[in-house]
Amino acid sequence: MAQCKNDGNSIKIEGGRPLHGSVRIQSSKNATLPIMAACLLIPGKSTLKACPDITDVAYMSRLLECAGAGVEISPAPTGIDISITAGNITNCRLPSRYVKAMRSSVILMGALLGRVGEAYVDYPGGCVIGERPIDLHLSGLEKLGAQIWIEGNRIHAYADELKGACINFPFPSVGATQNIILAAVTAKGTTVIKNAAREPEVTVLCEFLNKAGADITLPESFWTEGRLIINGTPLSRLCATDFDMIPDRIVTGTYMFATMAAGGSIKLENVPIEQLYSVWAIITKMGGSITYDDEKKTLAVSAPEKGRLKNIEFIETDVYPGFPTDLQSQLMAAAAIARGELTIKESIFSSRFKIAEELRRMGADIRTDGNTAIINGVAALTGRNVIAHELRGGAALAIAGLAASGITTISDISYINRGYQDIVGDLRCLGAKISYE
Ligand code: EPZ
Repeated sequence: MAQCKNDGNSIKIEGGRPLHGSVRIQSSKNATLPIMAACLLIPGKSTLKACPDITDVAYMSRLLECAGAGVEISPAPTGIDISITAGNITNCRLPSRYVKAMRSSVILMGALLGRVGEAYVDYPGGCVIGERPIDLHLSGLEKLGAQIWIEGNRIHAYADELKGACINFPFPSVGATQNIILAAVTAKGTTVIKNAAREPEVTVLCEFLNKAGADITLPESFWTEGRLIINGTPLSRLCATDFDMIPDRIVTGTYMFATMAAGGSIKLENVPIEQLYSVWAIITKMGGSITYDDEKKTLAVSAPEKGRLKNIEFIETDVYPGFPTDLQSQLMAAAAIARGELTIKESIFSSRFKIAEELRRMGADIRTDGNTAIINGVAALTGRNVIAHELRGGAALAIAGLAASGITTISDISYINRGYQDIVGDLRCLGAKISYE
């Protein structure tokens, strides 16, 4: 099992110190989890290198072990290496405890159907950020020939044989696209997904599966209309493979907004720059400056040297490559102390403004109405005891704490540990006065 670097229950921050220094970005949570699930399709031993050492990865490891896979974890220079051997998958009934603990468990349905033709799982859990139905996952799997029964909170999926089909998503859901890919890799014939999600966490899953012997094509039309083609490959042709995990674009963006809010100038190593143009554009408009060293793969980010951060007028979260919903709270924390007014429209999830109440307790001027938040920047925030209600909102409270005067204590940090390997260690490397309590 992966171990997190801390066992404290809260984070204490003494704010008001600009950030300086450099830090290496951890690997991506949302890329690692589906690739771990994909290993269920591969009988040999695959090693996923430099995975993030976070709670969700530990839960996924447990789920794979419960299915019958062998999981070995060893320390890596950053994070952990995970070797997964799925020689004998003996159990398709996954335990509620881990399934309910995270959203990503739902994609084990596709992997188990592809591997053994059957899956019993609970409705998945995950951060409470609004309605999170799985209708697109279920209807896609049915199109591939799975029969699905809902028994209370439990889902039972079964297929004698999965067959390729044309699946046209009404919305490009990241998880549903990954689930269908996992089920279709070993299905008979060709599957075409239309309006597939184009997030890097989808393309990297295809890259991993192709390296293992799958036949997935991303034609030009993938980038314009999300058309993705999967030619079914017999299970016996999938081979174990080693894979280097990609860096986390959301952790990178979190530290970029932290610098905007706290002030200062930092360097981030191991940055997926090509995934961050929407964030780069906003930070520049807010008065920050960014340079990228292509050779060293290092991003330098500086807050405005003189005067206050400026608010842009309006931003709407969108699917990739638009501005990510997973950075909306971090932007809100920085905007809370910028000059002027920002309106945020949250277009992906229906309830992702829980942080607003906590920021108001720190002195922010934020009004929310449905999926819109209006932030009027104030001159300063004041440190308070605040509560992390979900992963990204929790990280955003750390940003607010860095910018605030006095002490901020964030409780319920288990949410933050689900996605950030060591947010305290990273921010300390950048000169913050921050500790686990
Ligand atoms: C993934 O969630 C990420 N999670 C989320 O990251 C991320 O916010 C989200 O994609 C959008 O980028 C993981 O990768 C584990 P969706 P996912 O299916 O797959 C609706 C984080 O902080 N929808 O693209 O659950 C849904 O309700 C997390 O790391 C349906 O209506 O996202 C939502 O409004 C949180 N029916 C929208 O689509 C479905 O069957 C986007 O969901 C599926 C989704």
